[in-house]
Amino acid sequence: MYSAPQLAIKYLCYYLTASNGKGHGIHSPFIFQFITRVLNDHTQYKEYDKVEKLRQQFLNDRTILTIQDFGAGSSVSKTNQRSVASIAKNASKPKKLAQLLFRMVRLYQPSSILELGTSLGITTAYLSLAKPDAKLFTLEGAGEVAALAEKNFLVSGFQDISVVKGNFDDTLSVVLEGLPTVCFAFIDGNHRKEPTEKYFSQLLAKINNESVLVFDDIHWSREMEQAWETIRNHPSVRCTIDLFFIGIVFFRQEFHEKQHFVIRY
Ligand SMILES: C[S@@+](CC[C@H](N)C(=O)[O-])C[C@H]1O[C@@H](n2cnc3c(N)ncnc32)[C@H](O)[C@@H]1O
Repeated sequence: MYSAPQLAIKYLCYYLTASNGKGHGIHSPFIFQFITRVLNDHTQYKEYDKVEKLRQQFLNDRTILTIQDFGAGSSVSKTNQRSVASIAKNASKPKKLAQLLFRMVRLYQPSSILELGTSLGITTAYLSLAKPDAKLFTLEGAGEVAALAEKNFLVSGFQDISVVKGNFDDTLSVVLEGLPTVCFAFIDGNHRKEPTEKYFSQLLAKINNESVLVFDDIHWSREMEQAWETIRNHPSVRCTIDLFFIGIVFFRQEFHEKQHFVIRY
């Protein structure tokens, strides 16, 4: 993983060189719609409150959980004992990004959603509220964390979320076998080159023209930047959007030529 100063320099370069996020000079109607309805939609949807209350509850919870880490680990904690509050603070997506994912799902209305990396389920809750009748599978390896997320989904009335426990290396193929297609996937765990490329190629077998894949932390490390490069260059990929903290991948044939956007967010 890059050090904090390295990341800060990378972020500054991104910020100075990215398109300004207003849509000026963007000719694709699809991307223009993404900018206006996803990036720049500042509506305070009522669903936001429900999830942010849940986040606040976790932030006040000092219970200690034992974490079994299958991924690239935490950049903050090096022990396998962590409080719920610390997980909520450091692992859950901040509301700016989680709400962006909510707006994407709200706009594209995918019928099947997959999340790799549930943690406490903050983003899962946003995804579910954006499309309550979607088939939603969220995968998590840390048993105690997954159990807590699952318990909270039930208590908070999220009946239709399937929490799949175990290493993605074992569970992803099983979930994919049962799905005819994957319309939306958020890959937010195991931030290393080879696993990320492997999950991408597994997902590719189930994509359709409208599928959307979102990769987290694409600039977090050299390995993740290499994985992002592999993904961007894949022949099936027609368009990508780099928002620095996440990378979004589209497969729509309407993009006759591959297009890569870097947009300030
Ligand atoms: C950044 S957190 C997910 C945050 C969550 N998506 C959110 O926004 O609230 C990443 C999660 O992925 C899990 N994870 C990482 N690698 C994994 C693997 N190989 N198999 C299963 N779970 C894994 C970790 O245990 C961790 O809880």
